[in-house]
Amino acid sequence: PQKIIIDTDPGQDDALAILLALASPEIEVLGITAAAGNVPVTLTSKNIRKVCELAGRTDVKVFAGCEGPMEGSLFTAEYVHGATGMDGADLPDPEMPLQEMHGVDFIIETLMAHEPGTVTICTLGPMTNLGTAIAREPAIAARIRQIVLMGGGLFEGGNVTPAAEFNIFVDPKAARICFGCGAPIVMMPLDVTHQTLTTAKRVAAIKAIGTPLADAVVGWLEFFERFDEQKYGTDGGPLHDPNVIAYLLKPELYEGRLCNVEIETDSVLTKGMTVADWWGVTDRPKNATFMRHVDADGFYALLTERLARLPAK
Ligand code: BDR
Ligand code: CA
Repeated sequence: PQKIIIDTDPGQDDALAILLALASPEIEVLGITAAAGNVPVTLTSKNIRKVCELAGRTDVKVFAGCEGPMEGSLFTAEYVHGATGMDGADLPDPEMPLQEMHGVDFIIETLMAHEPGTVTICTLGPMTNLGTAIAREPAIAARIRQIVLMGGGLFEGGNVTPAAEFNIFVDPKAARICFGCGAPIVMMPLDVTHQTLTTAKRVAAIKAIGTPLADAVVGWLEFFERFDEQKYGTDGGPLHDPNVIAYLLKPELYEGRLCNVEIETDSVLTKGMTVADWWGVTDRPKNATFMRHVDADGFYALLTERLARLPAK
């Protein structure tokens, strides 16, 4: 199986990404690190454990990460995700423990302990933990198999400002470190995630799984989509983070282009923008595969089939 670390800020869509990974035998989750993003890290580290327990996976190691971005103060998104970060389904408080080690140390130690090129890092929130790890121990960068992330956007613009997507906007400095570190990068930007819409038909297919776990997922989706549905006028809202895991399972669902991507960190108007050189108008190094299209029906078929494999908790 592909060894991965998931760095995440649940988040209803983060929760689904975690479930998709835990349901998939092709993937071995070495650990999950909590990022500060949608809600503060005290809540995201708790939410991750709630999701692991829902999946019957109390064996997964969960670590708390940094409390805020590498620079400046934390911008959160309760206005999208609710006060808990995972409003829409009521899950019991977790019993499984949080590991004592800090998430950043876990990322560094894991990459140093494994053969180079064998561990993939999946970031589903602001890239603070990975950026901090690379800044502290630059030798890890050459050991990363690939970074697969949800973040950024080009043709779709931004969702926090006209230019910036939330995950990159919250910690542009960390994103810049990650994009400049030399490891292979695959990006799932808004250009992709705005195609994987939670239409009524797709949500009904998940509901039809008929387990309490599926009910929790539907509760999350219905809460989460209300925000974007209203905003974009689409049938359903975009589902972002599970695209990262779906890519590991079925890369053939995605199409994109290897190009240069730089992160704007300073400008008042465009802070957090992923400046992707899609047309190759510069000689800057091609550092990231910018995904632009997804087979959305194939994505939902995969997600639904995998959710049905999880225990009927
Ligand atoms: C990203 O921001 C968060 O609100 C979601 O969990 C996703 O990771 C989308 O911009
Ligand atoms: Ca997220």
